[in-house]
Amino acid sequence: MRAAARAQPNIALVKYWGKRDTERNLPAVGSISITLADLSTTMRVEFDETLAGDSLRVNGQPSDAMLPRVSRCLDAVAGQERSRATVVSESNFPIAAGLASSASAFAALVVAADAAAGTGHGREQLANLAGMASGSAARSIYGGFVELANAGDHVAVATLCAAEDWPLTVVVAITASGPKVVGSTQAMETSRDTSPFYARWVEQQSADLDEARAAIGAQDFPRLAAVAEHNCLKMHSVMWASRPPMVYWNATTLECMEAVRDMQADGIPVFFTIDAGPQLKAVCDPSAAAAVRERLETTAGVEAVMVTGLGEGARLLTDG
Ligand code: PMV
Repeated sequence: MRAAARAQPNIALVKYWGKRDTERNLPAVGSISITLADLSTTMRVEFDETLAGDSLRVNGQPSDAMLPRVSRCLDAVAGQERSRATVVSESNFPIAAGLASSASAFAALVVAADAAAGTGHGREQLANLAGMASGSAARSIYGGFVELANAGDHVAVATLCAAEDWPLTVVVAITASGPKVVGSTQAMETSRDTSPFYARWVEQQSADLDEARAAIGAQDFPRLAAVAEHNCLKMHSVMWASRPPMVYWNATTLECMEAVRDMQADGIPVFFTIDAGPQLKAVCDPSAAAAVRERLETTAGVEAVMVTGLGEGARLLTDG
């Protein structure tokens, strides 16, 4: 009745923004991401029929705020009649700051809970269960370049290209620590209800997905860079035009963006992407990683820089 699993966050290159079914947390659009290697969340789940309730510790501290979401996810994996569980989560990177900590957390949680409860869900089912808790978590079940597509009343998730087949490097510039101002669920609802650009965003997504898929298939870096930056800026435009407006960037985010533009002008193969938070993620060819790291590290206002390659999907740990 006990298991441990590990998963890494993923960074979307063609973004998920908006829900078509809030109740079941189904996305309005498909998305394409890269799963990271060196940032990870480890989840330990132990079901115990003698417990009166679930408990959750995150990085050594009790976390009552996240507990209801975790309990709902355990219900979805193991059924409402399940025993209560002790859940312990450890991440090696700042949580809730636009670094997709919920993706690695819920991907690891469903894999650990499935093994601990002995439910034996398939990978596709695990992706759907993770996605019910956090849309982007469905992608962290898989490694490398991952596409999530809408398929009727569920999502279909698959690896497009393994990490080792196109080993890009991601340099994350931390421009502010601490939790984000508006959570992604609320922000997506606000965008759908108020942004004049939302309908166009949804309408254009399949063209961006086609373009990114083709770029990945051909391992064409400039082509992937162009569609990823375009898609990222389009998503943020939807947010900026929402009421109330949602601006996740700070001045340092813009400084980093300018640093990436300067590097591109110098012929360095790098592009940026930014999620619902102020951190900038620079994706580059491994040959450029040292230069990109140094440039972002010395950009005014950057608090820290993390460098990682691409990695595998969620998996069970044998020491569970
Ligand atoms: O999975 P959520 O609900 O945290 O939403 C993630 C949304 C973005 O990170 C902004 C985009 C994406 O596709 O990951």
